[in-house]
Amino acid sequence: MAESSKAGERKVTTLRLTEMKQSGERIACLTAYDYLTARLIDQAGVDVVLVGDSAAMVFAGNDTTLPMTMEQMLYHTRVVTKGVKRALTIADMPFGSYHTGADDALRNAICLMKEGMAESVKLEGGTGIRTIVRRLVEAGIPVCGHIGLQPQSINSYGTYKTRGTDQSEADQILANALAVQEAGAFAVVVEKVPQDLAARITAQLSIPTIGIGAGAGCDGQILVTPDMLGMNTQFQPRFVRKYAKLAEEMGRAFGAYTADVRAGTFPAPGESY
Ligand code: KIV
Repeated sequence: MAESSKAGERKVTTLRLTEMKQSGERIACLTAYDYLTARLIDQAGVDVVLVGDSAAMVFAGNDTTLPMTMEQMLYHTRVVTKGVKRALTIADMPFGSYHTGADDALRNAICLMKEGMAESVKLEGGTGIRTIVRRLVEAGIPVCGHIGLQPQSINSYGTYKTRGTDQSEADQILANALAVQEAGAFAVVVEKVPQDLAARITAQLSIPTIGIGAGAGCDGQILVTPDMLGMNTQFQPRFVRKYAKLAEEMGRAFGAYTADVRAGTFPAPGESY
């Protein structure tokens, strides 16, 4: 099995993402939480691998992303970055790791980059985190913003419904986009907003927008990998296109293995020493 991405392919950097926006090349992004999946994603030519705090839900089984700790994020980041050679890696800053001030944010971001080997970090928010984003950027840490639906704010929203459907929230989301750009972010994730609003934000920003449930007008797209692989039968929102039916395939394999063990047909002589 090849250990690295296709030979000669250029490493994706934040600069490359800017160039892709300028030349109209769309940016493909996926999440990863473990080494083998990260390596497969990278070898497939995906541009950005996000170590998302969605791990708290799809990996750890929580109802929200809030329980994710720095220690857990650091572990996921370290194993993912081991598997990625070409793609740009982004580590999510977990809930509570940047909300207590710029010093804590800087310390935690440095930890994700120094020990986790992430190449950049992602923070949720806009006008309210401008100072923190600026501080990280000044320290040489590339920052990706995250606006629209901010899953770490679920307890304030009370619902995962589409954000920015009324004029005042749409205006605030646009202001958030401009604020993170102005603070020095290299890109911004735009989650679950009407496609017209996402397209308008994309047109106004010089940094790339990465959409999830935000329509085709963004500069790139991201999906949560277990969702697009069809592993999560509990979660079927319209914005998740399923590229595989792994829940069915895995269920079939686990069942077949169990039947073989029970029948005494596994292991066969050729599978024994
Ligand atoms: O944590 C995550 O997976 C994310 C994506 C939904 C963009 O932030």
